[in-house]
Amino acid sequence: MSRIYDPLKGISNPSARPSMLALCDASRRTVLRSGFGAAAAALFAPWVAGCATPATAARLGFKGVPASRADAVTVPEGYVAEVITRWGDPVGIAGAMPAWREDAGNTAAEQALQFGMHHDGMQFYPLAGSSTHGLLAMNHEYTDDGLLHPDGLTPWTADKVKKAQTAVGLSVCEVRFEQGRWQVQRPSRHARRTTMATPFAVGGPAAGHRLMQTAADPAGRTVLGTLANCASGRTPWGTYLSGEENFQFLFSGGDSPTPDQRRWGLVRSGWYRWGDHDERFDTRRNPNEFNRFGWVVELDPEDPTSTPVKRTALGRAVHEGAWVAVTRDGRAVVYSGEDARFEYIYKFVSRDRIAPGGAKANAELLDHGTLYVARFDADGSGRWLPMAQGQGPLTAANGFADQGEVVIRSRQAADLLGATPMDRAEWLAVSQSTGEVYCTLTNNERRGRPGQRGVDAANPRANNTFGHIIRWQEDGDFDGQTMRWNHLVLAGDPAQERPEARGTIRGDLFACPDGLAFDPAGRLWICTDMGPRAMNQGEMARIGNNQMLACDVATGEVRRFLTGPVNCEVTGPAFTPDGRTLFVNIQHPGETPGERNDPADPRKVSNWPDFSPGGRPRSATLAIRRLDGGVVGT
Ligand code: FEO
Ligand code: CA
Ligand code: CA
Repeated sequence: MSRIYDPLKGISNPSARPSMLALCDASRRTVLRSGFGAAAAALFAPWVAGCATPATAARLGFKGVPASRADAVTVPEGYVAEVITRWGDPVGIAGAMPAWREDAGNTAAEQALQFGMHHDGMQFYPLAGSSTHGLLAMNHEYTDDGLLHPDGLTPWTADKVKKAQTAVGLSVCEVRFEQGRWQVQRPSRHARRTTMATPFAVGGPAAGHRLMQTAADPAGRTVLGTLANCASGRTPWGTYLSGEENFQFLFSGGDSPTPDQRRWGLVRSGWYRWGDHDERFDTRRNPNEFNRFGWVVELDPEDPTSTPVKRTALGRAVHEGAWVAVTRDGRAVVYSGEDARFEYIYKFVSRDRIAPGGAKANAELLDHGTLYVARFDADGSGRWLPMAQGQGPLTAANGFADQGEVVIRSRQAADLLGATPMDRAEWLAVSQSTGEVYCTLTNNERRGRPGQRGVDAANPRANNTFGHIIRWQEDGDFDGQTMRWNHLVLAGDPAQERPEARGTIRGDLFACPDGLAFDPAGRLWICTDMGPRAMNQGEMARIGNNQMLACDVATGEVRRFLTGPVNCEVTGPAFTPDGRTLFVNIQHPGETPGERNDPADPRKVSNWPDFSPGGRPRSATLAIRRLDGGVVGT
C-alpha cells in the first residue's frame, strides 16, 4: 500500500530533526548564550518544537457526541458551552456601545462599534499571563446582506454598502471568567473594531510599489481596511495574524479583466456588489486597489491605538491565515496556504531573530526574509522553492522586475516555479512536541475532472469531496529547504460506494476539515466546513452538521467533541494557556445554500443562538469548559 494511503504511518525521517530540548534545558546555558538566549527561548517556548510538551500526544478523555442535525450546539457530558459574543453585540468601546437591534436596524455607524458578521479565526491573548482574563481577537469574514439589512438587498444602496463595510474586519474585546462564566468586559480600553475605513500600513517589498499606488494613496503605503479575513494565527511577540482570503469577490472587474486579474478570479460583478456604490471596488476605475488585498495583516491587540500592517513579504494569496514556528536560533517561520482549488502552500523565513520586547520590538520582523512555495514530490519528500526575484524563472523578462512584483503576483510566480497545486489549503498547525506541521485540505471536487488536473501523491483523490489533512516534518529546522510528508487522514465515510469517498478515518466521521489547532497538551482539534449545499445529503448524509473533533495524532484516533447548529461552520478554536477553556466560533448559522438569507423570513433555516421570535441567526463565540474545571479534552 502506498504510504499516502496510510495515515497512521509515522513520518519516515523524524530523526533528521535536531532535538529542540536544549532550548528548554536550563543546564545548557552555554548553548543558548551563543545563539537565541535562554530568556528568549523561555519566552517563545510554545512556538519552539520540543519545549512545551512531552513527545507523546495527549489522549482523548471525553465521551464523543453523535452526529446531529439539530439547530443547537452539543458538547460532551460534563461540559458547558456558553455564548459570549454575537454579531451586533457592542465590543465595549467606552461611551460607544449601541445595543443590538434584532430587526437588523442598526446603522453603519452602530455596526462599526459592534462585533461584525461571520466570526471566523480567533486567538486568545492572556493579560498578565492569566487563563481567566485576556483579550479575544477575531475576524469577521464576510456578510450575508440578506440578514444584515431589514430588507436585504432590495433596494441596494450606498448606505447598505457602508454598513457591509463596517460588518467585516477585525474585533478585539476583553474577556474575563468571573461569577462562574466568561463575560465580555464593557467598557474596555482594549476594545476595538477595524472597518473598511481603518488605515492599515503596508510593510515589506510591495510597500510603495507602483502597483500599490492609487489616486487616494499615491504613496502606495496606506490601505483602508482589511476584508475577507478568514483564519488567524498568534505570534510569539504577541500580535495577531489574519489572512485576507476571498478578496476577489469584493471587486467588480467589468467585461474584460486583465489576464493577471483573471488569474486571481476577478469577475465582471463581485458577489457583494460593493463596486455598485463605491468605485474603489470597481477595478475599471481603480485597478491597483485590487492589488492591495490578499495579504496577511498583523495587529497588536494590546494597543488599540496601533496601526495594523499588511505584511507583503509573506506574499499575496487567497490567504486562509498564517501560523508561526520558531527556528532554533530564534527566527520566525510563517506558514500559510491558499484556500482555492489547485493553489499553493507557502512559508516565509524571517531574516532577523525575534527580539524580546513584544510587538513594538518586532515591528518590522515580518518585512524582511525569504518566501518559499511548496512542492510535494511522489516519493514522500518535498522541497521549498525560493520566491526570490532574479532567481530561476523569476526574472524581469518573465514579468518580475523586482521583489514587489514577485509578492504581488505570488500565484503567477509559484506557477513558474512548479509548485504543487493543492486541494484548498485551509488552517495549519505546528506540533510543539514533534515539530510536524499539519494542514487541512478541505476538498476539491474538480480534481480529476476532464480538463482539470489529475491526482498527485499529495492530493490523491479525484472528486475529493471529503478533503484530507497532510503533515510534514522539515529536514533540519523549520527553515529547512526540504521536508518529508504524509497524510494524517483522508476524510470520508466507509459506507460510501465510491471508493475514493470512503477515506481512512479511525473514529468518528467528518468531512471538509478547515479549522485546526493544537491544545496545550498536544491534542489536535479539527473544525469542519461542509458547505450548506453538501451538508446532510448525498455522500455527507451520515456526517450531520458541521462539527469539531479532537485527534490523537500518535494513533490517528478522531473523536467528535462538538456539533454546531444548522448550516453553520465551526471555526476559530483558541485555548487559554491552562487548557481549561476552549473558545470556538460558530459562523453563519442558517446560511442558505447558494444564496443570501431571505430577509422576509430570516429564521427559516436557523434561529440560533437567541431563538427570539423576532430575531435572526447570529454568528457567535462560545466559551467551552468542563463543569469540574478540568482541562478540556482530557
Ligand atoms: Fe474562509 Fe477557507 O475558509
Ligand atoms: Ca476557513
Ligand atoms: Ca472553509
